[in-house]
Amino acid sequence: MHRPILIIGACGQIGTELTMELREKYGNERVIASDIREGGDTLMGSGPFELLDATNYAAIEDVVMHYEIDEIYLMAAMLSATAEKFPMRAWNLNMSSLFNVLNLAKESKISKIFWPSSIAVFGPNTPKEDTAQSTIMEPSTVYGISKQSGERWCEYYFKKYGVDVRSVRYPGLISWKTMPGGGTTDYAVEIYHEALKKGHYESFLAKGTKLPMMYMDDAIRATIDLMESPSEKIKVRSSYNLASMSFTPEEIAESIQNHIPDFTISYAPDFRQQIADSWPSSIDDSAAKAQWGWEPKFNLDQTTLEMLNNLK
Ligand SMILES: NC(=O)c1ccc[n+]([C@@H]2O[C@H](COP(=O)([O-])OP(=O)(O)OC[C@H]3O[C@@H](n4cnc5c(N)ncnc54)[C@H](O)[C@@H]3O)[C@@H](O)[C@H]2O)c1
Repeated sequence: MHRPILIIGACGQIGTELTMELREKYGNERVIASDIREGGDTLMGSGPFELLDATNYAAIEDVVMHYEIDEIYLMAAMLSATAEKFPMRAWNLNMSSLFNVLNLAKESKISKIFWPSSIAVFGPNTPKEDTAQSTIMEPSTVYGISKQSGERWCEYYFKKYGVDVRSVRYPGLISWKTMPGGGTTDYAVEIYHEALKKGHYESFLAKGTKLPMMYMDDAIRATIDLMESPSEKIKVRSSYNLASMSFTPEEIAESIQNHIPDFTISYAPDFRQQIADSWPSSIDDSAAKAQWGWEPKFNLDQTTLEMLNNLK
């Protein structure tokens, strides 16, 4: 039987689907969801839930002791677009929540951690195409700086204290169950909702902005596969590059037009354009493929089909 798992930030875009998948796999009672707010009905009704602030070490420790938690998935964070508006709050949340979880593992109170990084660790000086696992980074956003620092600390805790922490650099994630939480790639979810509701979408990213993206099912599978891999296979203890597809706003629009021929798109780039311009267009994820067998399943057209069918 799997030992109890705690998910912090379980009510967000990724946490909601991750919690449901882990409950399906390991049993509802063994997966404890937590967040600073309550989540959707399916999540709240399917197993234990705790109101928990990720910046409060003592509160997390209480929950860990109470449920005899063995693994933590830390999904609480302030995302890229919101973080540009509240830099200090973003830094405090993103870093203190990570230190809390790393220190619990250092003190042997838990034995394994998943913490997500992002393609936002890369910056304007990073080679844009097929961005390598190890390359120039120099992130230019508050969010990217917090993720890059987080990666360095994860590797440090692994090397110095033997903490079993695992991580992937998620690209922009596309899902239909939960809305995204203030990132720069949110347009690729909004566009499907608006296509069905209004037949039109005004994109906050300009034509030609090509970004790495992934369908949520692939992201959840990658996360759980990485956590289930034997420790010796995990050679990268900062964070793995992870990829499946890259596209521009006009390419996603075309993919939607195959199903909704009258769908139209217009462009009104805002402050998020600058963030998008600083990120890679495509990612080389060969290390994840070679070391723990990562393989994506969903391309853009399959994603469009899933999104439209489920949102209808
Ligand atoms: N969604 C993406 O496209 C994407 C891409 C790259 C990386 N990531 C990373 O994945 C993780 C999860 O992202 P997401 O998209 O699900 O984010 P989200 O914003 O949808 O969810 C984050 C959750 O954390 C909760 N939270 C905020 N402050 C908290 C606190 N102090 N204590 C406890 N919970 C708190 C929020 O209530 C929310 O439910 C983050 O680390 C994010 O940086 C996401």
